[in-house]
Amino acid sequence: MVMADSLLNGDRGSVSLFEKEFSRRMNVKYAVATNLGRSAIWLALKAIGLKSGDEVILPSLACFAVVQPILEMGCVPVYADITDDLNMDANSLEEQVSEKTKLIVMIHLCGKMADVKHILSIANEYGLYVLDDASQACGARYNGIFAGTSGDAGVFSFGMGKNIMATQGGMLVTDSQEVYQKASAEKLDVQDNKEVLKRLANALLEFRFRKFTKFPYLAFRKSLVHNSKLPLPLPQRKRMSTLDASLARQQLSKLDLIIERRVRNARLLTEYLASVDQIETPTGTYPENIFTKYPIKVSDNTVCQSRDRSTILVKLSDFLGRRGIEAEWFYSPLHLRQHTKRTAALPNTENLYRRVLCLPVNPFLSERQIEYVAFNVKQFFKEENVPVTESFKEIFVLANTTYEA
Ligand SMILES: Cc1ncc(COP(=O)(O)O)c(C=O)c1O
Repeated sequence: MVMADSLLNGDRGSVSLFEKEFSRRMNVKYAVATNLGRSAIWLALKAIGLKSGDEVILPSLACFAVVQPILEMGCVPVYADITDDLNMDANSLEEQVSEKTKLIVMIHLCGKMADVKHILSIANEYGLYVLDDASQACGARYNGIFAGTSGDAGVFSFGMGKNIMATQGGMLVTDSQEVYQKASAEKLDVQDNKEVLKRLANALLEFRFRKFTKFPYLAFRKSLVHNSKLPLPLPQRKRMSTLDASLARQQLSKLDLIIERRVRNARLLTEYLASVDQIETPTGTYPENIFTKYPIKVSDNTVCQSRDRSTILVKLSDFLGRRGIEAEWFYSPLHLRQHTKRTAALPNTENLYRRVLCLPVNPFLSERQIEYVAFNVKQFFKEENVPVTESFKEIFVLANTTYEA
C-alpha cells in the first residue's frame, strides 16, 4: 500500500499530497514537510527571522532535538520551569523574558495541551513570536484549536513513539504566507542554489582570462560544462522522503483511531491504578490530553545514585522490564545536561523529572495487555513476586496485532 502510494505519486507527489492533507486536517493554510521534527524547528526559526544572539524561552524538560536547532542558529536558549503536569509554567516563562527575548517555544508534552491561553497572552504582551511544538500532541485540541496551530509557526515530529510514525519526519505549519514562503525556499536546498551561482561565476571568471580566442561563445560553454561536472558538495537537505510521506499519509488517515486507542488505553490504566496510593496518574481528558505518553509520578524523593532517578521507580522499571513491559524514562532537564547547561533556578523541573516514569499506552496494545501492565504495577507496589509464566509472555506478542479499522 505504502510502496504503491510512493510509486504511483511519483517523485515528490506523496510529499506534497501529505502537506495538503495535513494542512487540511489541522485547519492551517500552509504545511512544509521535512526530514525531521528538528529540521522543521530550524526552518521555523529561519523563516520567522531569528538572528544569532536572540534569546528563545523553552521549558527545560524537553528533548535535545528542540534545543539543537536553536543552538545551531546561534540563538541563546533560556529555560523556564514546569508545573505539575510537566508542561511549561507560564509564570516562570514570564520571569525569563528579557530585552533580548524573541521567541517562546510552547511544547505540549506527553500529548497534554500546555497552558495555551496564558502563554499566548504573555507573548502578546511582550511582542514575542511563538513556535507551537506539537511533536508529542498531534491531534490534541484546546478550545477546538489543534495543537501546533496557535503560534506564528507550529512543528510536528513523525519519529519513534509519535502519533504519526514514519521512519523519521517532521512538518512545519503556519497561516503566514511569508513564513511559508521563506521556509519553503530554505527547504529547497539553498546550498544547491548557491552552488549553481558559484559555478556560473567561476565559468565567467575562467572565460574572462582566456584572452585570445576566436570563439568566445564556445570557450565560455566549455568552461561552463567543466564547472558543472565538478562533484556537488554533500547536500544539507531538509526535505521529507517520498517513502516517509507515504507512511505518514496512511497514518494521518487513521489519526482519529490512533488517538482513540491511546485515550482508551490511558483511561483503562487510570481506572486500574486508582487503588495504588503510591502513584499519581496523569490528569486531563480528550481532546486536551491525547496521552501520547502516560507519565506516572511517585512522591518518593530518594534518588538511585547510579541512575539519577527515584529509587522506587528504578525498581519498578526493572520489575516491569523483567515481565516484558517497557517503561520509558524522561530526558534529563536541558539546563543540567552537558551541552545545553545553563544556570537556572527551576525547582519544579529538578524535583519532578526523577519522579516520573511513562507506562506504555501505544495504540497497538489491547485491553488485555493494558490490564497486564496495570496488574504488574499493582503487584510491584504490593511487593508480591509474580512469576513470569508463558501465558503472560504471550500477552506481549505484538507481531500480529493490527488496527481493527
Ligand atoms: C517536543 C519535541 N519536539 C521536537 C522533537 C524533534 O523531533 P525529531 O526527532 O523528529 O527531530 C521531538 C522529538 O521527540 C519532541 O519530543
